[in-house]
Amino acid sequence: MSSSPTPKFKNPRAEHDFIGRTCSITGVGSYVPVKILTNFDLEKKVDTSDEWITSRTGIKERHIAAENEFTSDLGAEAALRAMKKAGVTADQIDLIIVATITPDMPFPSTACLVQRKIGAKRAAAFDLEAACSGFIYALEIAQQFIMSRTYDTVLVVGAEKLSSIIDWNDRNTCVLFGDGAGAAVLQSRPGSHGLLTAVMGADGENADLLFMPGGGSRCPASVESVNSRLHYLRMEGKETFKCAVQAMQTAAEEALQRCEIDITKIKCIIPHQANRRIIDAVGERLGAKTEQLFINLDKYGNTSAASVAIALDEAVESGRIQRGDLILLVVFGAGLTWGAAVIEW
Ligand code: ACO
Repeated sequence: MSSSPTPKFKNPRAEHDFIGRTCSITGVGSYVPVKILTNFDLEKKVDTSDEWITSRTGIKERHIAAENEFTSDLGAEAALRAMKKAGVTADQIDLIIVATITPDMPFPSTACLVQRKIGAKRAAAFDLEAACSGFIYALEIAQQFIMSRTYDTVLVVGAEKLSSIIDWNDRNTCVLFGDGAGAAVLQSRPGSHGLLTAVMGADGENADLLFMPGGGSRCPASVESVNSRLHYLRMEGKETFKCAVQAMQTAAEEALQRCEIDITKIKCIIPHQANRRIIDAVGERLGAKTEQLFINLDKYGNTSAASVAIALDEAVESGRIQRGDLILLVVFGAGLTWGAAVIEW
């Protein structure tokens, strides 16, 4: 491939035997439901306050899907917007990967439902479950298919209807989350390095920090499981917070180090939008300037696998990211899982 005459970074993929082309995001799009739930609305549901939520999380409001609007609907709309920006038609898509922890149903995959909604008849489709880290996991998997020349065009979607698994009586968790979707079209773009590297990690030892006990093979739905509120998300907030800061710092540092760059070379850092204090702590540990951090959690709360995808779309749309800029995505979620990616935009 052709590249800039004096590269300012190392492309770690260049060491792979199969490298023949690179993988870029050629279009990104997002969609959030119309209905907005503010902190003041939540004050009427549980014993909380706008002051507490704002000071402890940075969240002011979140979007909530309608009763007849599902994860696949949000994902399909985000996908169509990304495809339009990439100039790609449905029949060009070879593979659809949907990252989600709130599939429309256990099976078929939400990716198959998105495929039907956007009319991508040629595409293979599957779901990926890595909680809030799902979008970076999906980008990395998509990249393997493109660089190996297996596929030319892969659609990656992060979509969640978290309002469907939130216990609206639990003030510890219900203030944190929202619904939404983001999508990216991945293709080889000559002359661009695209996705330079993606770090992925997991720690199943800490699986119990953030989980939903009911609905799987271990605890199928029953009258008892419903009465015990087992079909709702549960989280040890304080411990999760500490793990998030540590894992995001380590993953980001490894990604930068692989590309032989320091944080000053990054134009825009797009962190998982869970908590403003987590983002500030990670930014400080990385030595980042406040203006390098992209933050939109005040409007959306934590949208899990959709979070960095929505933020990436907004960062591009607002002009914060221009072609040729280096950007850093960094995520953390249930599993535990984490990831960081450096991209030449
Ligand atoms: N309103 C008012 N008070 C509240 C609320 C609320 N909504 N929620 C909790 N409190 C109370 C608690 O009951 C506690 O009261 P107590 O001291 O009397 O017991 C007090 O506030 C402090 O609670 P802490 O848990 O210490 O609050 P903390 O500062 O840790 O903030 C939070 C809690 C926001 C949940 C934070 O821990 C956090 O953001 N954790 C990480 C979330 C995250 O990153 N998740 C990862 C990804 S999510 C995914 O993968 C799906």
